[in-house]
Amino acid sequence: MNHQFSPTSLAAGMESVGVRIDGVDLSYGSHRVLKDIHLDIKPGEFFAFLGPSGCGKTTLLRLIAGFNTAQRGAVTIGGRDISGLPAHKRDVGMVFQSYALWPHMTVRRNVAFGLEERRVPRAEIERRVDAALDLVGLKHLADRRPSQLSGGQQQRVALARTIVIEPKVLLLDEPLSNLDAKLRVQMRQELLSLQRKLGLTTIFVTHDQEEANTICDRIAVMEDGIVQQVGTPQELYDHPANLFVAGFLGTANVLEGQVRAVDGGTVFVMGGGVAIPLPRGVEPGAEGKLMFRPQNLFIRQDGGEPRDGHVRLVGVVRHREFLGASIRYAVDIGGQQVQVDAPHQAGDALLPTDTPITLDLAADKARFLRR
Ligand SMILES: Nc1ncnc2c1ncn2[C@@H]1O[C@H](COP(=O)(O)OP(=O)(O)O)[C@@H](O)[C@H]1O
Ligand SMILES: [Mg+2]
Repeated sequence: MNHQFSPTSLAAGMESVGVRIDGVDLSYGSHRVLKDIHLDIKPGEFFAFLGPSGCGKTTLLRLIAGFNTAQRGAVTIGGRDISGLPAHKRDVGMVFQSYALWPHMTVRRNVAFGLEERRVPRAEIERRVDAALDLVGLKHLADRRPSQLSGGQQQRVALARTIVIEPKVLLLDEPLSNLDAKLRVQMRQELLSLQRKLGLTTIFVTHDQEEANTICDRIAVMEDGIVQQVGTPQELYDHPANLFVAGFLGTANVLEGQVRAVDGGTVFVMGGGVAIPLPRGVEPGAEGKLMFRPQNLFIRQDGGEPRDGHVRLVGVVRHREFLGASIRYAVDIGGQQVQVDAPHQAGDALLPTDTPITLDLAADKARFLRR
């Protein structure tokens, strides 16, 4: 099962193309599903549409593939507006979430089918199907039917069937969601190495932030038909544009308070008079919340001096989760809850619940978010 995709002559020398989405709006009846979407996906990029179920990811993917029509806006592939082209003339290959394999056909026929439809000469079909099956490591199973394959193998057939067409853009709709957890982790690395080998511009749809973070160059985070932010995994995690992005990419602590002026700057004032310095650019009275990550807090039972550049908070441990490499504490700080990650070493004692503790917040890591 530890197969790696092997190099191939398939699609060798093919030039990567970019995908642009310009002001796309799509509604089903009165339900506006995609709202003024603008995206610029670069040639050869592994790009993700990430967002919760129902936010419009599949709808946008199907629009690129040519299975949906937008009321407004355009899709451009390799600099060419393809909005008016039918799906089969777009040089786009889509792997569906369900795989959609033909159950009565062998693996080989499933992979050959698209080429037969396009009336590719027999000898070339044989050569390209062999190359595609080789690429996904399924040559030895070419005569089986889909029902005689594992989930991971079916997923590879679906991939081979799409790649054999030699598309310029590969669209993957939650391709790993039907696999068990271990295979999912293995397959995502295989997908990445395949994508790099072919240099194939790829759009990967997922609701799983870890999946997007581990394999994609850039991510568009979507919510309710709107692209909330586009960036690399690290940009989105470290500099989220809003509370939705902050919470969708990892755990976010979010505090309520007021922005006030003090000598030499502005601070975020919470209950109990705790004041956290804010960066320039946040004006007193601004509406918003303070966001920081669980690893930006340092928990201590014995008080002592606060760390340099940190703001001291006091609280009580309410819950704890032992995660092995770390312990996640839920701490009450004057009526607001925060989560704290403390690294764990063998032999360290865990803090019991109801323990009074201090927290030192790395103030420069906190972000003021207006929405
Ligand atoms: N053919 C359709 N007709 C009407 N509504 C649809 C259709 N396809 C999708 N929708 C609606 O559009 C929204 C976005 O769906 P979808 O793109 O499948 O979301 P995602 O893939 O992010 O889970 C949902 O509210 C869904 O119910
Ligand atoms: Mg979907």
